[in-house]
Formats: sequence, structure tokens, C-alpha cells
Amino acid sequence: MIKLDSISKHFDVGGHSVTALDDVSLEVPKSSIVGVIGASGAGKSTLIRCVNGLESVTSGSVWVDGQDITQLTRSELREARRSIGMIFQHFNLLSSRTVFENISLPLELSGASKAEIETAVAPLLELTGLSSKRDQYPAQLSGGQKQRVAIARALANQPKVLLCDEATSALDPKTTQQILALLKDINEKLGLTILLITHEMEVVKSICDSVAVISDGKIVEHAGVAQIFMQPKSDVTRDFVNNALHQRLPDKLVQRMTRSSSGACDPIVRLTFTGGSENQPLVSSISREYDVDISIIQSSIEQVHGLSMGFLIARLSGQQVDNALKAMQKHQAVNVEVLGYVV
Ligand SMILES: Nc1ncnc2c1ncn2[C@@H]1O[C@H](COP(=O)(O)OP(=O)(O)OP(=O)(O)O)[C@@H](O)[C@H]1O
Ligand SMILES: [Mg+2]
Repeated sequence: MIKLDSISKHFDVGGHSVTALDDVSLEVPKSSIVGVIGASGAGKSTLIRCVNGLESVTSGSVWVDGQDITQLTRSELREARRSIGMIFQHFNLLSSRTVFENISLPLELSGASKAEIETAVAPLLELTGLSSKRDQYPAQLSGGQKQRVAIARALANQPKVLLCDEATSALDPKTTQQILALLKDINEKLGLTILLITHEMEVVKSICDSVAVISDGKIVEHAGVAQIFMQPKSDVTRDFVNNALHQRLPDKLVQRMTRSSSGACDPIVRLTFTGGSENQPLVSSISREYDVDISIIQSSIEQVHGLSMGFLIARLSGQQVDNALKAMQKHQAVNVEVLGYVV
């Protein structure tokens, strides 16, 4: 539904060129939810603005619903944008208009009659749980309710894709989860394709089918959410995953850790299990079989894209540590990563 084909974007700042996007390719299949995660300044907003043509690309092409939007004339682009809804961190509602009037704005602009507007807006109020707030003004709403209005407004023209730029970043964790649940619901009910930009793994974890990691204008990794959590490939991704899992090793341990094993060093390992705790008896059986002591440093179970995943950081010691590690690595449902070694 959305396809970015080798897009680059350079900005001219005071005579020199700043690269915001560097040869980015990304596909968002129809009716899927794809997340793009990256740190501040990584190029996320620029990327999403290239999808709806608010920003022109320096090179490459941007396909939305079969149309290369980089090749459209201004009026064609205006038309194409109707099938692209967008929501932002700060909602961007008009304060002098009621909830109903904010949602109906795109329809008014496209020349719909009063009756058509009424018919279109009522179900959107219902869908976003705002029927009772219909005649209130933005100042009378909570952050979550304001974002619901923005979502309803973005859906008014029955778009094919919805772009979300940090749509939950101004909201508390509970409201964030409610808005994400609403987006998932809309994705399922309407088959809407969603491209979601965020700096929070928590957002990606609950609703995205796949996630692309962007760093310095480049996509460094793109995989299914469970895969990203299970086997992050780049350091940037690993940092996002560890932060999301609150996996921070104690400073004292980090100071003692070395990268390579030499002599009688014990490995510190991170084990990731799919299927939650079900596979964890493996740890005790391997411990018995190879006579290895396993000291748990951290452990947790998380729901990732509807899948239960277990995370365990532990220190292994014993004569047959290497064999024990090899035995664990043979199991499909377990990923083993050696973080370092301690004496
Ligand atoms: N209009 C512009 N003119 C010049 N440079 C720009 C412009 N817009 C973005 N940039 C630069 O492009 C890079 C990417 O910016 P972008 O806004 O896409 O980052 P971001 O990932 O959305 O960051 P944040 O999480 O802080 O919103 C930055 O280095 C930024 O300074
Ligand atoms: Mg941004």
C-alpha cells in the first residue's frame, strides 16, 4: 500500500546540505501496521512527511496506493492526500470549533452537504467513543479525547492509509494504551493501513506487525516485532529493546564485565524465550545435565504482539558452560546472546 523506494532527502541549511533521509526503502503492506522507531533527529518526521508529499524527496519514489506521489502535479497531490489521513503529537484541533465541527472540517473542505456530513460524522463519533462529547470544545477535553477527535477527523475522508507522527507521545501510559487499542480496532474494522512513527518501543510492541529502526536517516533493521525483541541485530535496536524491557545491568557488574572470554570467565547471557514461561524448564534441565550454576540477574515476561515472551539475564558458571550454551542454542524457541564475561 505504501512503498518507499530508495528515497533520500537533503535539506539546504545555510549553504550546506543536511541529510535527513539516506536511501530509505520501506514497504507497508495493505491493512498492516508498520512502526518506524528512532531517536530524536533520526529522520522520522521527514520520512512520514515524504509519504504525504508535505516534503518533496531529493531522490527516489514514494508509492501510495499504486501512485508515485513524487510525480504528481499540485492538484493531483491535493486529491491523493484525501486518501492519506494524518495525526500528530499535538492533535492540531481548531479551538473555536466543537468536536463535531472539527471532525467535519475535511468534509466541508471537499464540498460535502450538511446531510452528507451528518451521515459521515455520526459513525466516526461512535467509533472513537466521542458521541457524548459531540458539542464540546477542545479546551473541555482530555488529551486522549483530543487525540480521538484528531483520529476521527483523519478518518473523515475515508482514507486508505493513516500516518501517525508520535501520536501518543503527549499522553500518559494508560491513555497511550487506549489510543493504541483504538488504532488497532480501526485497522481491523476498516482494514486501514497504518504507518506509525515513534521513539517508544512500548508503542511498537503492542500494535505493530513489523518495525523498522531508523538511525541517522538510514533504516538499519526491519523485521517482525517478535523478531526484533528476540534477536535485535544492530546496537541501536538493542538499546531500544533493552530500554523497553527495563533491562539495565547493575553498574557494578558492567564495570567488571569484559567483551571476550579468557581463562575461567563466566558468561553473562541474555535468554529470550517465545511462549513465555513454558520453555523455562529448559534452563533447569540444562543446568542439571551440564552441572552448570545459573544465577538469575533479571527476568521478566512480556506480551509482544500478542505473543508471550520471557527474558532472562543470568550468569553461568561451571566446567561445561560452553556445552550448556550450545545445548540452549539448539532450541528453536530460545535465543541466546552472550553479553560479556566476568571473572
Ligand atoms: N525543514 C528542515 N530544514 C533543515 N533541516 C531539517 C528540516 N527538517 C528536518 N531537518 C533535519 O533533518 C533531520 C531529521 O529531522 P526529523 O524532524 O525528521 O527528525 P525526527 O526523527 O522526527 O526527530 P524528533 O523525534 O525529534 O521529532 C534533523 O537533523 C533535522 O535537523
Ligand atoms: Mg519528529
